[in-house]
Amino acid sequence: MSQQSKIKDLIDLRVKAKLGGGEKRIESQHGKGKLTARERIELLLDESSFEEFDMFVTHRSHDFGLENESYLGDGVVTGYGTIDGRLVYVYSQDFTVFGGSLSETFARKICKVMDQAMKVGAPVIGLNDSGGARIQEGVQSLAGYAEIFQRNIMASGVVPQISAIFGPCAGGAVYSPALTDFIMMSKENSYMFVTGPKVVKTVTNEVVTDAELGGAMVHASKSGVTHFVADTEEEGMMLIRKLLSFIPQNNLEEPPLVACIDPIDRLEDTLNGIVPDNPNKPYDVKDVIHAVVDHNEFMEVHRHYAPNLVVGFARFNGASVGIVANQPKYLAGVLDINASRKGARFVRFCDCFNIPIVTLVDVPGFLPGTAQEYGGIIIHGAKFLFAYGEATVPKVTVTLRKSYGGAHDVMSCKQLRGDINYAWPTAEIAVMGAGGATEVLFGRQVKSMENPDEKAKFIAEKEKEYTDKFANPYVAAKFGFIDDVIEPRNTRFRVIRALQALATKKDTNPPKKHSNIPL
Ligand code: HXC
Repeated sequence: MSQQSKIKDLIDLRVKAKLGGGEKRIESQHGKGKLTARERIELLLDESSFEEFDMFVTHRSHDFGLENESYLGDGVVTGYGTIDGRLVYVYSQDFTVFGGSLSETFARKICKVMDQAMKVGAPVIGLNDSGGARIQEGVQSLAGYAEIFQRNIMASGVVPQISAIFGPCAGGAVYSPALTDFIMMSKENSYMFVTGPKVVKTVTNEVVTDAELGGAMVHASKSGVTHFVADTEEEGMMLIRKLLSFIPQNNLEEPPLVACIDPIDRLEDTLNGIVPDNPNKPYDVKDVIHAVVDHNEFMEVHRHYAPNLVVGFARFNGASVGIVANQPKYLAGVLDINASRKGARFVRFCDCFNIPIVTLVDVPGFLPGTAQEYGGIIIHGAKFLFAYGEATVPKVTVTLRKSYGGAHDVMSCKQLRGDINYAWPTAEIAVMGAGGATEVLFGRQVKSMENPDEKAKFIAEKEKEYTDKFANPYVAAKFGFIDDVIEPRNTRFRVIRALQALATKKDTNPPKKHSNIPL
């Protein structure tokens, strides 16, 4: 056989491999409004940057007719490429081959890219669209999943891992995405659940659809499983590219620095009037975030989940930060179970990957009630507290208004190794609000008063006394718990200065196997 015909054979094989499960199934995939595994990779990566591995791998199964049916690549496209010129490893499940189901060889292909990503220190992106374990293979396939899980665990905190869900993701298959740092789901066509609607009906008699049980919006707003929802697959790819722009390649690197033409000393006069005089009136903390960060750009994470806490990425003078902010617009910015879980997870991600944390505080406390107590707010709140206290990245805190009680401590206070803690003049740093304090301190006296006017006057006086004494930043500043009280319109400049000073910060935790965060 001549060299030319051998080269032609290679080209023919590549053409065949690129067709996955064949043209008919590709048409069916497009008919469902879904892209193919290769189209997704093309959209995700820089043009022509993809280098594929294992295009000629096929399964080794001989059961249930599989000996007569095999496809080059075996249902998953793997390799590496670049995003904005930075190396990433990727795998993309091909639904046109046995419904993207996972075989032993399919799993090996994924493990190969994960192993190499760990060696070179580059992110791993998994694009999921799969019917789960390849049923004809049985236990081989289960072992394959576990091989991937183990690698997800070892890679956690070493290289960033991102999962996109563009189709089914069910059964134990959900646990690989769940072990990664971020999940993104497309609004149509994607769902994740441990057991599908049929099993649910059998076991609990509930009748639900795929979307009701595990659609993108359910996981974005109710379970918090997904961090991002994309209207289209194209938008999903753009989200992943953007997300990576804030994150370093691995835990030993710094996040990329980007050019910033937004003046570092830009004054934001609107901030001098943003906090309403009435402490019970809300405002939108996202207005504060947008006003202070570079070019007003903020990439929110977990937007639909626990909106009483806002988390996400932004930049100050071109450098990435993670922002954590109480949102007075929802539930007065109170900390509850979901907000605590959301905050803890985000703070830990930032700490893993050397991303400084800027915390904006306006928190009236923890949400009271049996629902919260029975749900374990003690443990979940402790998680958030633990995450802040354990974090060694630079931590800059600005208290905008309320900072009460235990929630004050949680939100990156000085004693949890907050590095630079500022407060606006509107800050109220105290054990509790004036109303609650008066009730506790003078409840007996109030009860004994018979005249309602006298009662009201007394309460108002005591509340005023408490407010005058404690509802300000100066008591905390007197003790050095607040480093400075700053004019709101200067916040951008002061935060940038603080981050610059902290850029070379070194802090460590005692040597240990690992901590025992209250899970
Ligand atoms: C082998 C599979 C498959 C699977 C789908 N296919 N799932 N082949 N193993 N798990 C094949 C189908 O036979 C079909 O082949 C093609 O993929 C497309 O499937 P359709 O059913 O035609 O597609 P659709 O109607 O879109 O439905 C998709 C689906 C459904 C909802 C995913 O196929 C389905 O329910 N599949 C089974 C899901 C499942 O029970 N998986 C195992 C779960 S247990 P042809 O030749 O017709 O194109 C599990 C354990 C993991 O995953 C544990 C990890 C620890």
